[in-house]
Amino acid sequence: MTELGTTTLISGGTRGIGLAAAAALLDHGHRLVLLGRSPHLGAGGTGARHGSGDSTATGAAEVRARLRALLGQTGDGHRAPDGADPVSAELVSAELVSEGRVRVEWADVADPRAVAALAERLAATGVRVDVLINSAGLMSQRSAKTLRTTPAHWREVMGVNLDGAFHLIAAFVPGMVERRSGRIISLSACLGRFTGPGTSGGLAPYRVAKAALNALTKNLAAETGEGTRGILVDAVCPGHCRTDMGGPDAPRSAAEGAQTVVWLATRDPGSREHPVLTGRLWEDGRVLDW
Ligand SMILES: NC(=O)c1ccc[n+]([C@@H]2O[C@H](COP(=O)([O-])OP(=O)(O)OC[C@H]3O[C@@H](n4cnc5c(N)ncnc54)[C@H](OP(=O)(O)O)[C@@H]3O)[C@@H](O)[C@H]2O)c1
Repeated sequence: MTELGTTTLISGGTRGIGLAAAAALLDHGHRLVLLGRSPHLGAGGTGARHGSGDSTATGAAEVRARLRALLGQTGDGHRAPDGADPVSAELVSAELVSEGRVRVEWADVADPRAVAALAERLAATGVRVDVLINSAGLMSQRSAKTLRTTPAHWREVMGVNLDGAFHLIAAFVPGMVERRSGRIISLSACLGRFTGPGTSGGLAPYRVAKAALNALTKNLAAETGEGTRGILVDAVCPGHCRTDMGGPDAPRSAAEGAQTVVWLATRDPGSREHPVLTGRLWEDGRVLDW
């Protein structure tokens, strides 16, 4: 999947880990569809939702500005080995966006109609999604212990972290199954692990949504033949990263958090008889217990 022309759709591709993955995947020759919730900059959270919409010049410009900021940060950006940064220069060019190498789309992943409309927009312009990266995410309110979570907040967090992944899978994976080729990579979290801190209390909707996202990953991998039919399905713990969600004091950069995602999106799939290991939860290139 490192060949030129692979198209990767990244939900949450407009900020944070998704955006960092985008920068690296462009360097691997992927075409990108970066999906955000709204073209307004209100970072981090529970702000007003905006319905689905077409990509806009404003949106693309915003993403370029975000890419520039991300890639310009020392140690945070994707950098070529010699210290040059060819990706950033390429990625931020308006031509790249207008030529379709990077396309920016806006849709609320929690809304199945918005995702269906997105799929129609892409299909109508001949875009075929080969790799789906579910990075759109929403953290719970700090106070969200189970007994202090309102139904509305529960639904909001589930809607983005769990339903959103399902809606995108429902829209784009049937085509992959038909073509017997595709990858689905979902950003989970250690907070969703049954063997980790997933059940230690607090941030209840987020922990439960990520645990369910893990279950969705494992189940879909089984249903698509664990790699034997050309489909790889995996989840990733990115670690605590400096993003709007992770905060400025997190130990990892967004680019570091994106590394395993990029590896999963570009690794050699093996053969149909002997596919690579898939249907797993990964951290730093290693399998974690769920
Ligand atoms: N950062 C960490 O420390 C950390 C740790 C473990 C797991 N993770 C997981 O990694 C993923 C990425 O996290 P991050 O830190 O990069 O988050 P982030 O910086 O807060 O970015 C969130 C992204 O999700 C998009 N998004 C949010 N709600 C959406 C919706 N309803 N529809 C469409 N897009 C939506 C945002 O779009 P807009 O720009 O339009 O708002 C933005 O691109 C998440 O799934 C998160 O749970 C993060």
